[in-house]
Amino acid sequence: MDILTVLENKKQGRTLSREEIDLFVRGAADGSIPDYQLAALLMAIRLNGMDARETADLTLSMAHSGHMLDPQVDGVPVDKHSTGGVGDTTTLVLAPLVAACGGKVLKMSGRGLGHTGGTLDKLESIPGMQIALPEEEFVSIVRTVGCAVVSQSAQLAPADKTLYSLRDVTATVDSIPLIVSSILSKKFAAGAKAIVLDVKTGSGALMPTLEASIDLAMAMVDIGAHAGRSIAAVVSGMEEPLGSHVGNALEVKEAIDILAGRAAGPLKKVSLFLGAQMLIASGLTDTEEKALNMLNEALDSGKGLQKLKEMITAQGGDCRVCDDVSLLPQAPVLYPVRAQESGYLAHVNGTALGLAAQRMGAGRMKKEDVIDPAVGFVMEKRIGDFVQPGDVLCTLHASSEENAKDTETRILSALSFTKEPAPRARLLYALVTPHGVRELDD
Ligand code: URA
Ligand code: CA
Repeated sequence: MDILTVLENKKQGRTLSREEIDLFVRGAADGSIPDYQLAALLMAIRLNGMDARETADLTLSMAHSGHMLDPQVDGVPVDKHSTGGVGDTTTLVLAPLVAACGGKVLKMSGRGLGHTGGTLDKLESIPGMQIALPEEEFVSIVRTVGCAVVSQSAQLAPADKTLYSLRDVTATVDSIPLIVSSILSKKFAAGAKAIVLDVKTGSGALMPTLEASIDLAMAMVDIGAHAGRSIAAVVSGMEEPLGSHVGNALEVKEAIDILAGRAAGPLKKVSLFLGAQMLIASGLTDTEEKALNMLNEALDSGKGLQKLKEMITAQGGDCRVCDDVSLLPQAPVLYPVRAQESGYLAHVNGTALGLAAQRMGAGRMKKEDVIDPAVGFVMEKRIGDFVQPGDVLCTLHASSEENAKDTETRILSALSFTKEPAPRARLLYALVTPHGVRELDD
């Protein structure tokens, strides 16, 4: 067997054997198969697809292409992954809450990419916080505290690195088997035995339609059954930023405010829903109602906030930020963006808002850029709200007046208003588990 046979078979739309899949994954990981042959195969997979067995084999083969962690954490290692959003700080809310309920949250995270913020960048806005921890230390924090969030080790799933960078430049990102294997191979390699996925739907999401997002969620859940892992997927909307705060330190502040009981809203709601699925996937409880009760108890008793403090301390950070959010980096200029006419906020271009934050300095334009942890903005209105001229739509936390003025223009052009009442944006669409698809009534 050689790569040409594999290419010929997938071109003809045949299913590939596990040996054929192992052959090209090994070649992608060790560089022995040239990019042009890998690229051709990626396009054949994009066009002809893969069945569930092939996708499971591809995922496991990619996971085994590098180091596999087998963390001993006194429980079921559980992870959560979002396919990308703006103002999405669910990890910082749910990891401590799930840990407070006995879960073992083992989270390897990424940097911000393009217009979406990265959990690691947010955490690094906490003074002293270390996110590059040796494996044993990471596992030991998960075992003792119950949660840790660190950067993904380069030794995990090296085949994905090669394939992902080729997909980016060959128009093969939007392939369900390729997305599923890319995301899950990294989770499997990091040792997660229970995984909850937050599959975003809406403009700017990985899959263009709700139907395709549900198909992606179903494909991920299917792989769990093939690979002996417990997987659930929530399909959620991304019509506007999930939390009101966008920017690194600002998003940490919002997570702390929620854990301290000072803030609520869609970020809290989605975090609790995802957290409930994590408790169920971990086997810590069996119904959504019981899981939500456990999480609400952890929130009301302050145990969740206490867990966040413990995690920050264990990772070298200054946990006093949890009692005094003014210890987080503060931007020098606060600037209100005001409505120019009356109407209902009907549409928010989330990608444009994410890009506006990135331009302010909250994200990188180039890989080497240093981010400004303090900058960003707080949305004061959500889709469906009515505004009068002069009402504050958003408060900018900017590095300078000029930075603020620049951003004001970008933000105003990302928001559209109508004279007729506009419906609120839907948050939760569907829950996919091995038992099937359940439509969520928001
Ligand atoms: N994120 C990944 O890691 N891989 C994909 O294919 C898509 C999103
Ligand atoms: Ca990409």
